[in-house]
Amino acid sequence: MTDAECVDFLEWALPRLHLRWPGFRRVRRQVCRRIDRRRAALGLADIAAYRVLLEASPDEWAELDQLCRVTISRFARDRAVWADLVIDVLPRLARAASVAGRTSVRAWSAGCGAGEEPFTLAIAWELAVAPHWPGIALDVMATDIDDVQLGRAAIGRFPEGTLHELPDDWRRAAFDHVQGDERLRERYRDRVRFARHDVRAVPPDGPFDLVLCRNLAFTYFDEPLQRRVAGAIRAVLRTGGVLVVGVHERVPEGAGGFVQSSRCLYTATGRESSARPVQSVGQPPTKERVMVIADLMSRNVATCKEDDRLEVAARMMWDLDIGCVAVVDDRQHVTGIITDRDICMATYTQGKSPQQIFVREAMAREVFSCLPDDNFAEAEEIMRKRRVRRLPVVDLDGHLVGLISLNDLARESVRQQTRVQKDLTPRDVSATLAAICQPRQPAILPPSA
Ligand SMILES: C[S@@+](CC[C@H](N)C(=O)[O-])C[C@H]1O[C@@H](n2cnc3c(N)ncnc32)[C@H](O)[C@@H]1O
Repeated sequence: MTDAECVDFLEWALPRLHLRWPGFRRVRRQVCRRIDRRRAALGLADIAAYRVLLEASPDEWAELDQLCRVTISRFARDRAVWADLVIDVLPRLARAASVAGRTSVRAWSAGCGAGEEPFTLAIAWELAVAPHWPGIALDVMATDIDDVQLGRAAIGRFPEGTLHELPDDWRRAAFDHVQGDERLRERYRDRVRFARHDVRAVPPDGPFDLVLCRNLAFTYFDEPLQRRVAGAIRAVLRTGGVLVVGVHERVPEGAGGFVQSSRCLYTATGRESSARPVQSVGQPPTKERVMVIADLMSRNVATCKEDDRLEVAARMMWDLDIGCVAVVDDRQHVTGIITDRDICMATYTQGKSPQQIFVREAMAREVFSCLPDDNFAEAEEIMRKRRVRRLPVVDLDGHLVGLISLNDLARESVRQQTRVQKDLTPRDVSATLAAICQPRQPAILPPSA
C-alpha cells in the first residue's frame, strides 16, 4: 500500500469507527502495515478490495478496530508530568484522603499499555510519597483492551529502552537486570491490579482519586466519543480528584465537570446534574446544578489557637451562639476541634477554671473534614462513618475554608422539598443522625452469662 493509499483509506475508515485521522497521522505506517497484512491474509488484491469487503461485512469493522490500536508506551513517559504528580498531586490526594479519614488513594490507569504507566505510579508512590504518608496506601487499577498488552504486564519484564525516562534511583530501586531485560520487583508489581476493559464501555467502579487516560481517548477518538469518555471518567472520579491526559491532549470543550489546573492535569469540580431535567407543561426546561458543600457551608468559621485558654473558645461560643470552634495553626491548617462539651468536661475533670486550661489540653485532635466540592452524600458519609455532626471544610492544601454541620444539611433538606431534583432529603439526614447517635458500646453492660 502506498502512503497516499494509506492516508486515503484511513481518512475514509477512521470516522466510521469514531476515531480521528489527525491522531493517526504520525503512526499511520504502523497501522497501515497491519491493515495490509490483514488484506493479504484475506486473499484480497488491494486496499480498494478491502474497502469493498468492509462495505459488505459489518463484522470486519471490529477486526479493523483492533488493527488501529497504538500500543507504544514507556516508564515515566513525559517526565515533567511525573514531577508534577510526585511533587504536588499525589501528596495533595494523600492529604485529602487522610483528612477525610480514608486509608487509601485509588487510581485508575485507563489504556495502561503493558503496565509501564501504572507501574511508574506504583514506584513513584512507594519511593516518593509513601515515606511522608505512611498511613495511606495506593490502590492502582490498570485496564487495557488488548490481551497481549495485559499478558506482558503480567510477566513484568521490559526492554531496557522503555526505562530511559525513569530517574536512575527509581530504576535501581525497582528493577533487576535479568537476561537482557529489566524485571520489575515483585513488591511494585503486586500494587497494581490489571483487568481487560474497553474505555468506551461503562467504567470500573469508583470512586477514584486519580485517573490517568493518556495517549488514547484524547488522541485517537473523535470529539463526541472523547466527550463521552470524559463524562464517564468524571462519573467515577471523586470531586477534587485529578484526571491526567497526555502532553499533546486536552479534554474537549463542553465535557463539563473539570477545570484544567496545568497542561496535562484536570481537577474534577462539582458535578453537573446527570439527572434528566423534568419539564413542566408550559415552562422552559429546568436544569438545576447539583449542590456542593461550598454552596452551603459557613465561611466565617470561628477559630482559636492551641495555646489559647479555654476561656477564649468559650467566649466565642457564647458570643456567636455556636457549639464548636476550629483550632488552627499559623498557616490555617486545622489541628483540632473544640466543642462546648469538651470545655465542660475539661473544667469538671481537671477541677480548674477555663482561664487555667489550654485549648490543646481539651480539644479533639482527630479531625475529619471534607472538601468544598464534595457533594452532600460524600459529607454525610464521613459524618456517618466518623460519627461527627460537624466537618471543617478544607481546600486541597489543607487550609480551613468553612464548616458544615448536620444542622445545615437538615435545613437544606427541608428547603429542597419543593425542588424537582433533590440533592438530599430529610430521610437522608435522619439516617445520618441515627448512625451518628448509635451508642459506641452499651451504656450499661449486660449481666455476664
Ligand atoms: C499509546 S498506548 C498508551 C499507554 C499509556 N497510557 C501511555 O500513555 O504510555 C494506548 C493503549 O491503549 C490501549 N487501548 C486502545 N484502545 C483501547 C480501548 N478502547 N480501551 C482500552 N484500552 C485501549 C492500547 O492497547 C494501548 O495499550
